Amino acid sequence: MTNRLDARTAIVFGAGMSAVEAPPGCVSNGFATAVTFAAHGARVVAVDRDETALAGTREAIVEAGGDCTAVVADVTDESQVAAAIERAVDAYGRLDIVHNNVGVTVLGGPVELSAQDWTRAFDINVTSVFRACKYAIPHLLDRGGAIINVSSLASIRWTGYPYPAYSASKAAVNQLTQSLALQYADRGIRVNAILPGLIHTPLVYQQLAGEHGDAETMRAERDASSPTGRMGSAWDVANAALFLASDEAAYINGVALPVDGGLHAKAG
Ligand SMILES: NC(=O)c1ccc[n+]([C@@H]2O[C@H](COP(=O)([O-])OP(=O)(O)OC[C@H]3O[C@@H](n4cnc5c(N)ncnc54)[C@H](O)[C@@H]3O)[C@@H](O)[C@H]2O)c1
Repeated sequence: MTNRLDARTAIVFGAGMSAVEAPPGCVSNGFATAVTFAAHGARVVAVDRDETALAGTREAIVEAGGDCTAVVADVTDESQVAAAIERAVDAYGRLDIVHNNVGVTVLGGPVELSAQDWTRAFDINVTSVFRACKYAIPHLLDRGGAIINVSSLASIRWTGYPYPAYSASKAAVNQLTQSLALQYADRGIRVNAILPGLIHTPLVYQQLAGEHGDAETMRAERDASSPTGRMGSAWDVANAALFLASDEAAYINGVALPVDGGLHAKAG
């Protein structure tokens, strides 16, 4: 452990530990990131719409000796997002790190999807980032800070699933990241994106299993599709987030960092 995030306050949206049935050790990206930030000294405000999932995260952080405030909020509700950010500032007197992790896959192309499903994907995956930034940035202007947006390798590559609403909304996250990175660079706010590749999280069991048949087939296929022979873990994503949140990344701004074992470099 280090004190890389000592005295910082981090808010993590989508910090819950999903209750979806998944193998032991298979944890959500937001959970792993919240736990990692706390382990490195941050006071963590964990936000999720799922109260039970959130309780699991708070418990893990507190049991390890960390500091966590849990806030139930839905990122599609602007007033709830604003209230969560106010709660962070009220609780700890400052805000330094904003981690936007909420995302859902919406399977199907234009023929299968309704316009409402298309809009829902954008609302959850990218407008949620806009909402968090809208209310968080005013608190970052004095001291600077780090914003990390969890995008996806699917924002720049075909990853084997027919989910253009997901890919297009995550591509919008990348461009929102770049725009804000440049807009606020001279105010000491860094904005970066993480592009996870094939990561072994509960989401894939819940939302993608049907695409592969049973869960074990899915797992084997996803492991085999990775250049490393295995999917990444939520801890791989969390460690990238820790780096981007820390002062070691002080001159890194506006990047879209793949965490994918090299999958982005593969043709075919
Ligand atoms: N798992 C992968 O292979 C993979 C790959 C690329 C990108 N990602 C991205 O990583 C992020 C996290 O994915 P994960 O696999 O850990 O998912 P997950 O479903 O395990 O965790 C997501 C968390 O977000 C919460 N959430 C969902 N909708 C919400 C809302 N409207 N308001 C508040 N909270 C909400 C859920 O309750 C859950 O706790 C997503 O943005 C996803 O697109 C995942």
